[in-house]
Amino acid sequence: NIRRKTAPDLRARKNGEPIVMLTSYHAHTAALVDKHCDAILVGDSLGNVMHGFETTVPVTLDMMILQGRAVMRGSQAALVVVDMPFGSYEGSKEQAFASAVRIMKETLCGAVKLEGGVRMAETVAFLSGRGIPVMGHIGLTPQSINTLGSFRAQGRDEANWAPIEADARAIAEAGAFSIVVEAVAEPLARKITQSIAVPTIGIGASAACDGQVLVLEDMLGLSPRAPKFVRRYGNLGPMIEEAIAGYARDVKSRAFPGPEHVYDMKKS
Ligand code: KIV
Ligand code: NA
Repeated sequence: NIRRKTAPDLRARKNGEPIVMLTSYHAHTAALVDKHCDAILVGDSLGNVMHGFETTVPVTLDMMILQGRAVMRGSQAALVVVDMPFGSYEGSKEQAFASAVRIMKETLCGAVKLEGGVRMAETVAFLSGRGIPVMGHIGLTPQSINTLGSFRAQGRDEANWAPIEADARAIAEAGAFSIVVEAVAEPLARKITQSIAVPTIGIGASAACDGQVLVLEDMLGLSPRAPKFVRRYGNLGPMIEEAIAGYARDVKSRAFPGPEHVYDMKKS
């Protein structure tokens, strides 16, 4: 009966040992991630990875809840954080509260994550003041792709730092227990990390952050394309294809199933 990590446990890791986080959307990968990571993100990147969408915009609350439940069943020690999908929280703090309550009641996860800085601060305060731990997400916020125009690194020009710093500060002061910082130039990521009281979790934001997160399929070499900031720790794509090709070969030649895979008749 392992005690699951909580949002306060992660919050307490500011300036401590780096927080290790990966995404997972399903039970069997969650069980593996659970053995080595402090937290599992059920990210809305599942729209790309599981459903083949080009952006996270089409992802629904129902999709997030279904995979959140799977990850909770598969894991036991890690804090599970479920992304709030586009359209489920930006309308009002009450809308955000209703969506977050659904996520927490139906998945039993330990926290939610939402994108946005200053504009979401009031919502973060509303949720975290009502029993819902919130992880922030600033810098590159993929749900805003249609207003941003493209997925681009943020803060590579010092002239553009101020609004991103303000976003981090607003979300931290609103009560977020941790903040994902995505695709932000290293000096800015370091400055943000040093200037807020809660841990930053970087993705494309350098080792200066208080922790790191990656999309599991990207680091496993299972995604056809991955951003510059991904290091590949495996090359599962070719391994899986080789296994599938072997199966196809054996089925056609009747080498599979073999005698060991066949049920005999009962002896009478
Ligand atoms: O959806 C996701 O996987 C994420 C991470 C990339 C931070 O939000
Ligand atoms: Na996400």
